[in-house]
Amino acid sequence: MNTFLNRVLKETADGSHTLFLPGWDEHYHSLHGAIRESLHIFINEGFNRVAGGFVEGERGAGKSLMVLEVGFGTGLNALLTVERAMDLGVNVNYLALEPYPLTAAEVSRLNLPDKVAGGLLADDFFRMHNAHFGEMTNVRQGFIFGKWKFRLQDAPLPPCVYHLVYHDAFAPQVQPELWGAEVFGKLHRAMVPGGVFTTYSAKGSVKRALRACGFSLSHPAGPPGKREMTRASR
Ligand SMILES: C[S@@+](CC[C@H](N)C(=O)[O-])C[C@H]1O[C@@H](n2cnc3c(N)ncnc32)[C@H](O)[C@@H]1O
Repeated sequence: MNTFLNRVLKETADGSHTLFLPGWDEHYHSLHGAIRESLHIFINEGFNRVAGGFVEGERGAGKSLMVLEVGFGTGLNALLTVERAMDLGVNVNYLALEPYPLTAAEVSRLNLPDKVAGGLLADDFFRMHNAHFGEMTNVRQGFIFGKWKFRLQDAPLPPCVYHLVYHDAFAPQVQPELWGAEVFGKLHRAMVPGGVFTTYSAKGSVKRALRACGFSLSHPAGPPGKREMTRASR
């Protein structure tokens, strides 16, 4: 799609990079800090909430926390998930949807692999970006990763699989089709009972659509620059 050509690299307030789409006047992350925002919304308010049931002791039993990400983009959420999963000793199976992937040149300019975990996970970052669409890759022991070149609307998601959904689409104003009952119902069906959905948006219409699909909502404080965010559970 032409909108995704000419992405511009930008530095955010915590020194980490993001991308800007001039055609939509949209950033991939908050200018208050890309890493700060992703850590807050997806890791601290998402991954940490469900990780408890998947700690080290269950590795032998092969139990994995199933994560679905809507919009792989720069790979920042996935990289922070690798870092936190290692810290907590949690096995993860991570599936990311991305219909408009970054080019290799765009990936090579991002400072994110140097900024996360002091650069120790840079190989993991490039393994995820270089992974072939439609194949599962062992990024490291205990972390299996796959990318699908599907729009959320078209992705054939299996029922009752995901413990955690990172909904990181562009804002409802520019991609309203990713914030309505049709796709939220699809995500609800793909999640296990008790599964957690987390996103940066706390817009009224988004909350109403989530509730209409059967989610229970809570509204933790947002990251810098945002009063609140949304966490929903199935
Ligand atoms: C706000 S960016 C966030 C990207 C990523 N999570 C990151 O940390 O860089 C939104 C992402 O959703 C992707 N996207 C756009 N339309 C989509 C769709 N219909 N289904 C799934 N993903 C989509 C974009 O290409 C982009 O990578």
